[in-house]
Amino acid sequence: MSKLNQLNYEVMISEEEIGQILDTVAAKINQDYADVDNLLLVGLLKGSVVVMSDLARRLTGDVHFDFMTASSYHGGTESSGDVKIVMDLANSIRGRHVMLVEDIIDTGRTLSKVRELLLSREPASLKICTFLDKPSRRVVDVPVDYVGREIPDEFVIGYGLDYAESYRQLPYIAKVNPA
Ligand code: IMP
Ligand code: MG
Repeated sequence: MSKLNQLNYEVMISEEEIGQILDTVAAKINQDYADVDNLLLVGLLKGSVVVMSDLARRLTGDVHFDFMTASSYHGGTESSGDVKIVMDLANSIRGRHVMLVEDIIDTGRTLSKVRELLLSREPASLKICTFLDKPSRRVVDVPVDYVGREIPDEFVIGYGLDYAESYRQLPYIAKVNPA
């Protein structure tokens, strides 16, 4: 993969560690949702696809999938304040137990906007699960129920996370070093 050679990066969270993190998060979710008939996992495209598929396969209860696309990025490494819903959910969430699944929370702008929108549709419950969290970058406060790993203020790629749409398929999380 030639594009990989053009980037100076180092592994921050290995594939094995990712598995361990997900085991821990899934165990909590399985416990918390033991009495819930069905959980609707809502993934924010595109970054959450990888973590959602790995997380879902560790969940023991019945789950459904839905997806939405919220856009706040313009291909670079800095979030803009403007969040748009580019693609909405396929189905109603009224009365459903919903868990938003995110790859990473940075400023919190995306998630806070999506959370407000979903809450206005009156789900039975709404929780948030993120694989990575950069708490030092938070601009908008948003309640997060399950966090895989907190990381410092670094730009990371892999495991769903992109840099200008590339590198999402890396099986690990890597930190990008400034050129
Ligand atoms: P927020 O609205 O600032 O919280 O941005 C959240 C979104 O920004 C995530 O879903 C990612 O798509 C993107 N993002 C934030 N930090 C990173 C990063 O370090 N690498 C890649 N994408 C990131
Ligand atoms: Mg992104």
